Amino acid sequence: MHESHIFKAEPTAVMVEKGKTYAWCTCGLSQKNPFCDGHHKTIEGMPFKPLRFTAEEDAEVWLCNCKHTKNPPYCDGTHQQFQK
Ligand code: FES
Repeated sequence: MHESHIFKAEPTAVMVEKGKTYAWCTCGLSQKNPFCDGHHKTIEGMPFKPLRFTAEEDAEVWLCNCKHTKNPPYCDGTHQQFQK
């Protein structure tokens, strides 16, 4: 069974534009995290696909990099359990 890779145990602040669609990485292997770079397609059997979301307003948002948030694509503090 595949589990999301923990890219980083902290979120990234990103400015998003109202009406623009973004692809948040769910596998954790993208080198452009928190966004998808297509890496999931290179691994056979990888069940993950990016989560696309459209910004409702121009805003700064904190996107999850640990990939275990319960409120994707946004950080909900779950990453704290992965910090050493
Ligand atoms: S970075 Fe994943 S919950 Fe904060």
